[in-house]
Amino acid sequence: MKKRIAIFASGSGSNAQKIMEHFKYSSLAEVALVLSNNPEAYVLQRADNFEVPSHVFDRHAFYDTDEVVDILKRLDIDLVVLAGFLWLIPENLLKAFPNKIINIHPALLPKFGGKGMYGDRVHKAVLEAGEEEHGITIHFVNERFDEGEVIHQAKFKVEPEDTLEIIKFKGQQLEHQYFPKVIENLLRKYN
Ligand code: GRF
Repeated sequence: MKKRIAIFASGSGSNAQKIMEHFKYSSLAEVALVLSNNPEAYVLQRADNFEVPSHVFDRHAFYDTDEVVDILKRLDIDLVVLAGFLWLIPENLLKAFPNKIINIHPALLPKFGGKGMYGDRVHKAVLEAGEEEHGITIHFVNERFDEGEVIHQAKFKVEPEDTLEIIKFKGQQLEHQYFPKVIENLLRKYN
């Protein structure tokens, strides 16, 4: 039986795209569902392009009901992947998928993480701090933002002339390179 992945994303979904590409012809796993809190998110179009079903939910459904957990259970989801999903994961979802929810963060945690640290704010803070290296972190999700156990980090050197756009791009390249592979390695361990 193929392992089943659910991806949560709030925005563009370029990571979701890479994951769907990676598993499109895989015998190990498939992306079974894309979920978003944002009905306008481009990730929903990307899911459509891959003929992956999607589900949009609102704040009330996510925090005050079991709607999302029920859907994930009904679809026999093995791994929940947060790929640019900005809301904190509620307790009912954490309890239903212990150690089965992972996130990608565009910095070398524990640096530059926590509430409000997302998107360009992260890269701006990195440049302002004069960091010599920057990178990405893939980690398990717990009840606090960006604090779960680290699964994988990848780094690059920040050059003195690097702009926000450049370090953002370098980070994104690493995300696309490593996220699908880390998911695959994790799923292999579930056998
Ligand atoms: C990525 O930089 C990821 O690290 C962060 O949100 C961004 C999502 O980008 N959590 P995309 O929607 O996958 O293009």
